[in-house]
Amino acid sequence: MEHFFASSPRGLEALLAAELGPLGAQNMQQVPGGVAFSGDWRLCYAANLWSRLASRVLWRVAEFDYASEEDLYAAARKVDWPGLFALERTLRVNVSAQKSPLKSLDFATLRIKDAVCDRFRDTVGSRPDVDRANPQVRVHAFLDATRCVLYLDTSGEPLFKRGWRAGAGEAPLRENLAAGIVLLSGWKPEEPLLDPMCGGGTLLVEAAAMARGRAPGARRGFGFENLKIFDSILWNKIKHEERTAKTVKLEIFGSDNDPRVLGDARRNISAAGVDRWVKLEQTDILNRVAPAAAGVMIANPPYGERIGSKEELEIFYPKLGSALKNNFPGWRCHFFTADLRLPKLVRLQPSRRVPLYNGALECRLFEIRIVAGSNRRA
Ligand SMILES: C[S@@+](CC[C@H](N)C(=O)[O-])C[C@H]1O[C@@H](n2cnc3c(N)ncnc32)[C@H](O)[C@@H]1O
Repeated sequence: MEHFFASSPRGLEALLAAELGPLGAQNMQQVPGGVAFSGDWRLCYAANLWSRLASRVLWRVAEFDYASEEDLYAAARKVDWPGLFALERTLRVNVSAQKSPLKSLDFATLRIKDAVCDRFRDTVGSRPDVDRANPQVRVHAFLDATRCVLYLDTSGEPLFKRGWRAGAGEAPLRENLAAGIVLLSGWKPEEPLLDPMCGGGTLLVEAAAMARGRAPGARRGFGFENLKIFDSILWNKIKHEERTAKTVKLEIFGSDNDPRVLGDARRNISAAGVDRWVKLEQTDILNRVAPAAAGVMIANPPYGERIGSKEELEIFYPKLGSALKNNFPGWRCHFFTADLRLPKLVRLQPSRRVPLYNGALECRLFEIRIVAGSNRRA
């Protein structure tokens, strides 16, 4: 039985556990930013291939108490690194810390890297090269006040890199956060879905891929392929396991008022192979006609951080509120934003507010149900 940790955007831990459970994860423990679990290699491969929410799946290789950089060096040197990956692999070490007494995380990183390299030199007479930009093997160290956990990264590139992004749009959501937002909205593939501020189309692609039962990792490589435990026969079996294709008729719509980002959305949707199910058009959300009598809207409006000033949004939101009331009765609308003033300024009462983090930025997913003539705030 191996021990793993799947990291995810904060706020998605419960959904991540719900994804990992059916894949066979045992002893799951949710903590802010991820889920610790145990299982075999089949589970690790499947989690990398199938998780829409995880950022990385890390394999625990050592855990010990520490008080200084030298403790890190001594304990990391005891790990049989040459038994874990070949000398020819390039290496990178990452350290993250919470409440660590150490003064310099850069120095801690250096000492762990030295320990790995020295262990190689002791055992095989030579050390692996470091490649910070494009490493084949990543070692992650997590430090708290007294404990250090060392992991090998079984994902490699973070899992939100699915291999379909051809254009960025403006301020694109990470794919795993977008998948989480779609899941939190409660959208069912039988329902029409609209993102009227679709940018590069991340929410649209994730929704379509999910509804079609596509493996998010089907077109990318993984860190575990560079580790000595890699079992290519088992991996090929897992990769080609038949899953019943879902055959619902999808009605997914996207629009944006910016023709340039729609070009990115079109390229992404086509690179992801879901263009058959997604209809795009250039429209301002304030003039958007509902594409069906009822459905689910999910939007990620600009929120005054990277685009759209606070003052512009103060003028825009009340107009958005009116447009929703006039054009979208019968729709469940979801807005993912870091602008916590949104419900107040659109003057509509949210039925749900889910706290979520976009990196370090605190956000909310607001659900607003539009019922003709109601929702007006007192
Ligand atoms: C934060 S970005 C959305 C990013 C998108 N979720 C993605 O992952 O690529 C906000 C988008 O809203 C669009 N937008 C801003 N004002 C709009 C309006 N009045 N009508 C329609 N789209 C608008 C912008 O062009 C931008 O693409």
